Amino acid sequence: MNYRCMQISDHDTVMQLWCDCEGLLLRDADSKSAVGRYLARNPGLSFVAEDDDRIVGSIMAGHDARRGYIQHLAVAEDTRRQGVASRLIELCLDALKAQGIEKSHVHVLKNNRSGRRYWAKRGWSERCETILYSYVNGENENA
Ligand SMILES: CC(C)(COP(=O)(O)OP(=O)(O)OC[C@H]1O[C@@H](n2cnc3c(N)ncnc32)[C@H](O)[C@@H]1OP(=O)(O)O)[C@@H](O)C(=O)NCCC(=O)NCCS
Repeated sequence: MNYRCMQISDHDTVMQLWCDCEGLLLRDADSKSAVGRYLARNPGLSFVAEDDDRIVGSIMAGHDARRGYIQHLAVAEDTRRQGVASRLIELCLDALKAQGIEKSHVHVLKNNRSGRRYWAKRGWSERCETILYSYVNGENENA
């Protein structure tokens, strides 16, 4: 397995991976131009796993100088339970730490039971004391 930073040229392939994975919510913010902006703004924090040139895993991360935010952890079904996600998370957290970020968050859909079990098993704490409020500034309900 080869691990490397995600590039915008990977977008079509990782988008297919995300679409194939249950439990991920995709929005206009996942379009090629938006992901390009994200990668340019957060260099060196998003990674893919490649098996014989086939992308089988992805993780994206950014930070706001205080907290890290992990997104779109996904591993192809036929490559799961081989430690790919663990390595992607490790790469991400190490890169965030190198930029001074010691605490990170991940949003997981409430009905993604498998994903929730996964993060809990990896030692991530479910936060029951906060509720996320979101606001769309404009007409695009799929922003
Ligand atoms: C969740 C996901 C990323 C895990 O990928 P993976 O590469 O199979 O995970 P790993 O191989 O690194 O697993 C590491 C450990 O977690 C365990 N594990 C893997 N999937 C698990 C799950 N769904 N629930 C509980 N434990 C799980 C593994 O057995 C392993 O345990 P071990 O170290 O004791 O052997 C993958 O199942 C996936 O892509 N799911 C769909 C998308 C998703 O839900 N993403 C997370 C929400 S953002």
